Formats: sequence, structure tokens, C-alpha cells
Amino acid sequence: MLLLAIETSCDETAVSVLDVEHYLNSTGSAEDSLRADIVSSQIKLHAPFGGVVPELAAREHLVNLPVVIDQALLTAKVSQHEIQAIAVTNGPGLKGCLLVGVCFAKAFALGANIPLVAVNHIEGHVFAGDLLQASERPQFPFLALVVSGGHTQLVFVESLGKYNIVAETRDDAAGEAFDKCALLLGLGYPGGPALSKRAALGERNFLEFPRAIPKDNSGFSFSGLKTAVRRVVDENKDLLHQENFQNNLCASVQEAIVQSLVEKTTNAVQTLKPKALVLTGGVAANERLREVLGERMKEQGVAFVVPPRKWCTDNAAMIAVLAARKMESRIDEYKNWALCSEHHLRLGPEADASLGAFARLPI
Ligand code: KG4
Ligand code: ZN
Repeated sequence: MLLLAIETSCDETAVSVLDVEHYLNSTGSAEDSLRADIVSSQIKLHAPFGGVVPELAAREHLVNLPVVIDQALLTAKVSQHEIQAIAVTNGPGLKGCLLVGVCFAKAFALGANIPLVAVNHIEGHVFAGDLLQASERPQFPFLALVVSGGHTQLVFVESLGKYNIVAETRDDAAGEAFDKCALLLGLGYPGGPALSKRAALGERNFLEFPRAIPKDNSGFSFSGLKTAVRRVVDENKDLLHQENFQNNLCASVQEAIVQSLVEKTTNAVQTLKPKALVLTGGVAANERLREVLGERMKEQGVAFVVPPRKWCTDNAAMIAVLAARKMESRIDEYKNWALCSEHHLRLGPEADASLGAFARLPI
């Protein structure tokens, strides 16, 4: 079965074509079963605004999606008539952006008379480790730390479909914290990579910024850090252009974000005793976060799984393999799904409610 997966929840238009049987029967990396895996980023469009502009993003998906689908079919060397199932991200994400993907997927499925599988975006990130070869995939139960510009969640995964959210952010996402602090330091958007590059040259203990854990120890909170950085920037305007000062500031900001993520994750590992920790989302590219988490997991004897960067950031491959697993595990129900089922493709709280623990996710 050839499955076409669509991901348009934020500012990446992504489409993959997966050979489902090949993937489910293979012990190799999903690379071997993906006939196409294409991501078109809108980053340049949003950079002048210092963040993703939802309305612009939705309009851009409308233009890009048919082109990216054509490109994926061309790469996979298949015609649209050979596609036998569709998977699409139906939340959480930017509503206008999700609508473009979902409406396109519904029309495709209806026109071709093939089934449609709705996939939760965070669930997709959580299972990104399943894109690796079998020997590297996380074993149940595992913890997943999903950290990107849009999400910061620590999820305990008992099995496919059984999840508990251990911690999530109360305000900004970890990537957003990197980006907002970088913007305050004049490093452009998205500033996470630039900030971490400078941080590598600076002194981590230069300033002690607030650790992003709320007083009652529930979840993460990054807004206090942002305010503290703003204050330092306002009070040291003369020093900001000095390279050493900037590098030290970046290193201190990075350390505050990294240590709060590591502390919470280590506590969860000690309590829940998972077999593995999966680190995913765009912030998984951060060297310091990988280094410290890697060391901690080694101490705890827990496997540390970090998928390649292209599968940590938003992509359709993670949506495709999760849809394949869902089809495999609930094959009868899946066969009975009404075409373009309203139940599975509503946006908003109803969509999340159909995904159990993910009901608590904001959309
Ligand atoms: O997953 P992603 O590509 O997009 C979504 O947010 O969905 O994540 C992008 C985020 C941005 O906030 C970016 O600044 C951050 O990941 N990021 C980093 C690094 N590389 C990307 N943050 C810290 N250090 C990095 N090396
Ligand atoms: Zn994402």
C-alpha cells in the first residue's frame, strides 16, 4: 500500500510517500521505505516579522501544497492513482494552516475513493524514533521530550495510543524562548541556532538567569527568563556590541533553558523508569542540550534516542509512519472508517479528544 502523508500545521509544507507494507516488515530505517520525503519551508517569508504570521502561512500552504504533492509523486515515480491511503495532520497547530492540509486530504481521499487517517502532530513528533532502524528505535515505555518553536512537552508513552503528559510549558515554548531572547540580543529570526553558536564561545556561569520551572514545579515556564534577559539588555546597552559580553550572555541564557529541560526530564526518568528518552523537535539540534541530556541518560542507564535533524523538525515522514502503525494496530476499525469521516477530521477540541491523553493539548 502506498500512503501519501501531508503536514501543514505550521510553516512547513511537507509531503511523504510511504510504502506501508515495506515499512511495517522492515528492520531498516524508514529511509528505505519512503519513496519521497519533501519539506518546503516558509522561513524566509516570516523572517522579517520575527515569527510565523498565521494568515500568511496558511495562504502560502495553499500555493505550495499542490506543488509539493506533485514533486513528491514525481520523486516516488508514481501517479496519484497509485496512492491507496492518505494521512494528514489534523492538530494541534495553526488553524488556517491545518485547514489547508485537511481540506486537501479530504478532497484527495474522496476523489480517489481511498481511506483517510488523521494524525495528531505531537504524537507524530513523539514517534519520530520509529523512523530509525529497528535496533535504534525506543522500546516501550519511553519518554519523549518534544521541544520546538511551537511545543514543549514531556510525554510518557506506555504503548501506541497510551500517553501521559508529564510536563508542558505554561507560556512560551523552549524554541520560542531561544528565538525571543535572540531577538532581544539582535540576532535575527529564528535566533535559536545563532544564539547557540555564540553560546559555544561564552561562559555559562556569567549570569544566573531564572530556571524555567514554575514555583509549584508543574511544567515549564519561559516568560520569566525573557523578562530577565530584556532587563539585562536594557541595563547594558553599551556592552551589547562587545563580542565577549554577547557570547557570555548567550551561554547563560542557553544554560538556563537547557538546565530546566534537563532537570525536569531527569526527575521524570527517575520516577517513571522508562527504557528510553526520545529528544525531538527543532531544539533537539542544540548541542548543549544533547550533551547534558546524553550524560544524564547514561548515568541513569536509559537509551538516548535523537532522530536525524530532518525528522526532528516538522516533516511528513513522522506522520506517514505513525499512520502506518495506526492502520496496522487497528486495521479492522480503520477499514470501516467512513470516507473523509467527520469524526476523525474535525479540527479543534473534538479532534484532540479522539486522541485520549492529547485532549489536554492546546490547539
Ligand atoms: O521544529 P521546528 O523546526 O519548527 C517548529 O517550531 O515547529 O523548530 C524550530 C525551533 C526554533 O525556535 C529554532 O530557534 C529552534 O527550533 N532551534 C534551536 C536550534 N536549532 C533550531 N534552538 C536552540 N539551539 C539550536 N541549535
Ligand atoms: Zn512540530
